[in-house]
Amino acid sequence: MLASVLLLGLFVCFLLLQLQPRRPKNFPPGPPCLPVLGTLLHLNLENPLKDFQRLRQSYGNVYSLFFGLKPAVVISGFKTIKEAIVIKAVDFAGRPQDLFPNYVTQRNGVILADYGSVWRDHRRFALMTMRNFGLGKKSMEERIHEEIQCTVDTLVKSLGATLSPQFMFHNAASNIICKVVFGTRYEYDDEMIKIIVKCFTDLTKMANGLWAMLYNSIPLIRPLPLPFNKAFKDMEMYLGLAAGLVNEHKKTRVPGEPRDFVDCYLDELDQQGEGSSFSEEKLLMHTFDLYVAGTDTTSNTLLTGFLYLMNYPHIQERCQQEIDQVLEGKDKVTFDDRHNMPYMQAVIHEVQRIANTVPLSVFHCTTKDTELMGYSIPKGTMVIQNLTSVLNEEGQWKFPHEFNPENFLNDKGEFVKPEAFMPFSAGPRMCLGEGLARMELFLIMVTLLRKFNFIWPEDAGKPDFTPVYGITSTPKPYTMKVQLRSKQ
Ligand code: HEM
Ligand SMILES: *[C@@H]1O[C@H](CO)[C@@H](O)[C@H](O)[C@H]1NC(C)=O
Repeated sequence: MLASVLLLGLFVCFLLLQLQPRRPKNFPPGPPCLPVLGTLLHLNLENPLKDFQRLRQSYGNVYSLFFGLKPAVVISGFKTIKEAIVIKAVDFAGRPQDLFPNYVTQRNGVILADYGSVWRDHRRFALMTMRNFGLGKKSMEERIHEEIQCTVDTLVKSLGATLSPQFMFHNAASNIICKVVFGTRYEYDDEMIKIIVKCFTDLTKMANGLWAMLYNSIPLIRPLPLPFNKAFKDMEMYLGLAAGLVNEHKKTRVPGEPRDFVDCYLDELDQQGEGSSFSEEKLLMHTFDLYVAGTDTTSNTLLTGFLYLMNYPHIQERCQQEIDQVLEGKDKVTFDDRHNMPYMQAVIHEVQRIANTVPLSVFHCTTKDTELMGYSIPKGTMVIQNLTSVLNEEGQWKFPHEFNPENFLNDKGEFVKPEAFMPFSAGPRMCLGEGLARMELFLIMVTLLRKFNFIWPEDAGKPDFTPVYGITSTPKPYTMKVQLRSKQ
């Protein structure tokens, strides 16, 4: 109650103090702004999809919004997005630095790091490490296959029954990252996983909501004991746990023989001299970043994949025919086998196109005064890429609005990847887990389709393909039935 009164007071003060935000000269157009609130009243925060659609229709491929006093530009369409993040790459490669999640992550980590040397060093290090050779004797493929075996066991236990796959796929994606980063898998009810999931859920729920909006717009309220403190408490708890794991690594590691990402980072720390941008503190947040970036994205894509494969059984069957033919007599699929599986490749890419897993990408920020499509965009402007608008853009795809692997096949049945395939975004900020994600999607989908038939339960009614809105979009919860395939 006291907090609300205080807040109201501050709010009124600000209304009086602050000038109304104004669009700079030649800035992209957008809806009218109010003092303090900017264009917030034009958006329904719970589900702004309809509002976005209206705004894009009225103002086109480059339009502006104000989050409080902060300007943001929303960019849509292949041509516009490419001009920004690929052609004018560096101009658009920053991240906003004064938002709620920046404070929660204490400006460490790689996802939200601004364009500069700390980001570059950490990104390069992560990319290097995740390539096969960086992680000691066991290859990335082996690690993924170990986890797939657990998924297969789960499915075998559910033969004949109906199963909710949400949990199973989340668990698989989560464990693959944990194995890469910490060298271990965790049971789903492990304390570590519970905390990390809670931390992430609180943070993402809040980052979208009213409290984060107020946090961003009114710096004066930041020290107050308001609901956003929960996210800070969660983060502290995660950092404590991660520090414990890193200390264990320090006790058991053999320098130069890394077992996982943490060991690699500790090796790197040994070698870095003064003035290095690597530190233990940064390592802790880096592990958090890899986990949050790699878990829901991958598992939501898998969920979309199986939702469509069950409801397009002829496509599922054609995948299985190709898999049987190419893998005949082989024990396990390898990532290299993809070169002989154009149809399977086309299906996986089509799943990613339709899944549209990170619809607005991660927000960018301009690093200098720049121009886009003839508009002037000053340094420090938030830039929101509308990836959806590229993944279903007319003119870029043979069948933009339907699930159809032909989008990735030419007349000869060969696999082709149109340039507008951007679920991982593009340019210098492009997803750094792309290689790992593609390997996971391929190995998991091929292994499971080889062994099982996936069937939409008769009593499940008509499938609802409309995704649930969020930072990552995901299908509505559904159930599946599995059968062992007779060949095999
Ligand atoms: C299907 C799965 C995935 C999708 C669709 C996806 C998509 C994306 C997108 C759209 C971005 C934002 C790029 C930009 O700002 O322009 C991103 C960034 C990022 N992703 Fe992924 N991602 C996936 C899986 C992964 C995995 C498995 C990892 C980790 C190992 C990962 C790690 C990251 C990181 C660290 C960034 C930040 C890169 C930077 O700011 O430089 N992602 N991802
Ligand atoms: C992105 O583009 C799609 C159309 O392809 C539109 O429906 C959606 O509202 C746009 N989102 C934003 C944030 O402008």
